[in-house]
Amino acid sequence: MATPNAAAAGTFKIGGDIEINRLGFGAMRITGDGIFGPPSDKAGSIRTLKRLPELGITFIDTAASYGPDVSEQLIREALHPYDGLLIATKGGLTRPGPNVWVPDGRPEFLLADVKKSLRQLGVEQIDLWQLHRIDPRVPRDEQFGLIRKLLDDGLIRHAGLSEVSVEQIRAAQAVFPVATVQNRYNLVDRTSETVLAYCESAGVGFIPWYPLAAGDLAKPGSALDAVAKAHSATPGQIALAWLLARSSVMLPIPGTSKVKHLEENVAAAAIRLSAADFAELDKAGRGAA
Ligand SMILES: NC(=O)c1ccc[n+]([C@@H]2O[C@H](COP(=O)([O-])OP(=O)(O)OC[C@H]3O[C@@H](n4cnc5c(N)ncnc54)[C@H](OP(=O)(O)O)[C@@H]3O)[C@@H](O)[C@H]2O)c1
Repeated sequence: MATPNAAAAGTFKIGGDIEINRLGFGAMRITGDGIFGPPSDKAGSIRTLKRLPELGITFIDTAASYGPDVSEQLIREALHPYDGLLIATKGGLTRPGPNVWVPDGRPEFLLADVKKSLRQLGVEQIDLWQLHRIDPRVPRDEQFGLIRKLLDDGLIRHAGLSEVSVEQIRAAQAVFPVATVQNRYNLVDRTSETVLAYCESAGVGFIPWYPLAAGDLAKPGSALDAVAKAHSATPGQIALAWLLARSSVMLPIPGTSKVKHLEENVAAAAIRLSAADFAELDKAGRGAA
């Protein structure tokens, strides 16, 4: 079988500037349990990361809070100096323990988090930095103003947001250009449809996190099974193909610590769903929500 390649998903220009292949990789799952501490199989995580460029992946999503620090450090160990790769990271969350995430949107914390990511990734400028969460305890314009300053000072090249409403995107756009929005979205979780529609109209990249619903959509017996069988594909591959077909601004970042799963996910880039398959999946997915 030919080596799968993410280029089959087509391309998107982040901020109208940096071209990436639309199927990317989420680097949250290469850390320890609860996204805390080092992975149990570090060699496996490094192997997975080193395989990314060989499979045409040019877009990697991470965060200072994954590990914390561990994901960025492993990415540097495996892939620095990132030829042809866009490493997108996020800041603004603290990690008191496994599976615990606490926003801190104070401008001084955000600045310190960005500087830490620059050091950990070993770069002078972060190509895409995303505010992981708007901190409700800090006036949002203070957080947006800091992002404006990060852009003006050249610490970051493009900026994005995560888990936001259309109203919040518009408010941010009054302060800085929003290149990407990263919201939870997959075939059976369509809560962010209006945000996706807004991103399409504004040419903003939409990064659907949880694209495989943590593997649930990849399991045999899921609603996707029939279409998957017809394509000789796995349900997870069909879930990814559906996302890619859903919108030209859609940039899925399935995450895995395993080379085998990575290769399977990248092969989804070449799957073309018929209009009938797409519509049937769309209907089934909306019904499941
Ligand atoms: N902005 C945010 O708030 C936010 C929140 C969560 C995640 N994210 C980002 O989004 C990315 C993706 O989200 P996610 O990791 O939650 O969800 P996901 O990609 O839908 O699911 C990842 C899970 O599915 C499993 N998996 C992956 N490929 C598989 C395959 N081919 N077959 C079977 N199982 C498979 C993985 O386990 P194995 O390791 O065993 O393959 C992992 O546990 C993250 O890596 C992160 O970069 C962002």
